[in-house]
Amino acid sequence: MHFGVDYYPEHWPESRWETDAELMRGMRIEVVRLAEFSWQKLEPALGRFDFGWLDHALSVLARRGIKAVLGTPSAAAPAWIIEANPEILPVDSSGVTRGFGGRHHDCQSNPTYRAHVARIVTAMADHYGKNPQIVGWQIDNELGNSHADLCHCACCARAFQSWLKKKYGSINELNRRWGTAFWSQGYDTFEQVPTPRITPNSHSPSLLLDWRRFHSELTVDFHRFQSAIIRERSAGQFITHNMMGFADLVDYFDLARELDFASHDQYLTGFWEKAAERGNRHARGCAAHRDAAALDLMAGLKRQSFWIMEQQAGATGWEIMGPGPEPGQLALWAAQSIAHGADTVVFFRWRTCTFGTEQYWHGILPHSGIPGRRYRELKWLTETLTPVMGRFQGALPGAEAAVFFSYEQNWAFKIQPQHPELDYVNHVLAYYRAFFEQNIPVDFIGEQVELGAYKLVIAPLLHLSTPALEARFADYVRGGGRLVLTMRTGVKNQDNVCVSESPLPGAYAGLLGIEISEYDCLRNGPVPVMFDEMTFSGSKWRDLIELKGAKCLARCTGGPYSGSAIITAAEAGNGKAYYVGTEPDHALMAAFMGVVIAEAGISSLGDAPAGVELARRRTGKMDYLFALNHTAQEKTLAVPPGWKPLVGGPVLGPYGFSLFAVEREG
Ligand code: GAL
Ligand code: ZN
Repeated sequence: MHFGVDYYPEHWPESRWETDAELMRGMRIEVVRLAEFSWQKLEPALGRFDFGWLDHALSVLARRGIKAVLGTPSAAAPAWIIEANPEILPVDSSGVTRGFGGRHHDCQSNPTYRAHVARIVTAMADHYGKNPQIVGWQIDNELGNSHADLCHCACCARAFQSWLKKKYGSINELNRRWGTAFWSQGYDTFEQVPTPRITPNSHSPSLLLDWRRFHSELTVDFHRFQSAIIRERSAGQFITHNMMGFADLVDYFDLARELDFASHDQYLTGFWEKAAERGNRHARGCAAHRDAAALDLMAGLKRQSFWIMEQQAGATGWEIMGPGPEPGQLALWAAQSIAHGADTVVFFRWRTCTFGTEQYWHGILPHSGIPGRRYRELKWLTETLTPVMGRFQGALPGAEAAVFFSYEQNWAFKIQPQHPELDYVNHVLAYYRAFFEQNIPVDFIGEQVELGAYKLVIAPLLHLSTPALEARFADYVRGGGRLVLTMRTGVKNQDNVCVSESPLPGAYAGLLGIEISEYDCLRNGPVPVMFDEMTFSGSKWRDLIELKGAKCLARCTGGPYSGSAIITAAEAGNGKAYYVGTEPDHALMAAFMGVVIAEAGISSLGDAPAGVELARRRTGKMDYLFALNHTAQEKTLAVPPGWKPLVGGPVLGPYGFSLFAVEREG
């Protein structure tokens, strides 16, 4: 299965379904996702199930050989459930109960809600679990979306308290580790510990970090509870979930362990609330690295190829709309997903809906249902790529470098960014971009991954440290690895409490051969940095580094700290550990990382004109190289001998792409 669409037959008269299915077949759609918001149609009253309409839609699709993924509909509980059990509604951090409407008006820890979910999921799994047309299941929809600061109901408070009790054993232990001596916050019992509702001032950073962990685990548990019901009743069907790239409410490494493979929703023009500020970022060619990185993170979650469950198929929009994708961009973006490891791409959505919140979220077909430019563009894409995709199914990029990505570190910076513009994901992406611009594949890795497989590992902003993590990084370097650590590393322990046993960068000081005696949050703007006899700048942070065995690679210039080291490198065992005590500007990052990458002996996939991305899928014998032109200008690639064109060739039209096969040596 290569291409699919998200299909909502219930939004259209049954008389249209044959036409839809015929048009889908006409553009080589092989799979649809159905039903993830159809609870009310599937169970119009308690225990009264109606699968007739869905069976009918499936049979219309089956006649064209189209398979289906079913969503469990728990993201939108119907009004009759909320009427009977209003206690299911979520409570926000100001204590206000959010009402019915929109979606995800639910509380995942509420046992009554779970009983309702269990009933519908059981009925669906009994009905469809052995149907060969149903290839798999998506649990809920974008878990974590719409649940930002929820839920603070009595049920969640109790669940949080028992989670804490299990973690700390005694309330005295919690008091000690959180440091509740501060502001008289000591607790006598776990029942006194609040969820982080709004207070006159900020909550304890330790409480906030545990809340984030609890919330993530609750969501994973909610997924597990549903998938267990399906696994018991189904045969040969996969379970997946549509994740949201760099969204941070759920630790996706944990969620991915529950899945047969990861899925992701790839929307490139951004969402409505930021559309104005973002503008047509792709026309400016400056966001392609971020979109590529989201895809690489998805591949990293299970170190496995993945599905795109929602790939942008038109202009985005709810109340406000995003910019319209220019001709070629939709096909290019889908090709980019495939280039980074998607084996199946499902477009959101088939036809633009005429009613409801997403009237302006455009599908392949316009409101009229008459195939137009988007249909033709994506039909060309599916016809072009379907015949070749089997060659690299399951293949990953085969990266020699990795970026260590951690939800816990991200959460710590969400709680205390320190510099108001310091953002974990953006900081990580600044490093990723240095590889991206040199056409070097990078893996995103989590704590479970064996570091030794990589020539170079970047682990930005390792704010929270554990002895286990420190030991792994130290072993990696001593064993010959190259490691880049950055500002704010080693500052805290896992309780989100600052370490006091040694000066900064805490447990990493020895490995890095440095000591940080003072630091400076750069609230008054960037500072000049001298690297390789050129002046660049660093922003947000400046560590004042004392060399204790490390060599200085870059210094601050000007001002009271002129001459102070800001980037260092130290040999340790057979490897090398670098430290960067600021957020380098784009040019400094490119220059510094250029040196690090060269020293690590990592080679680029090739040269490409500015705005053209190269990405690889590597199989045992072959490399498949995609050249993706993210600009509106024609670009010409100097194609090395041995690159055999499978799609296109050296000339890339505006937003065009080519695909080459290269036999691997040896
Ligand atoms: C996704 C979501 C879809 C649809 C789409 C457009 O985040 O999974 O159900 O809402 O956005 O808004
Ligand atoms: Zn709740």
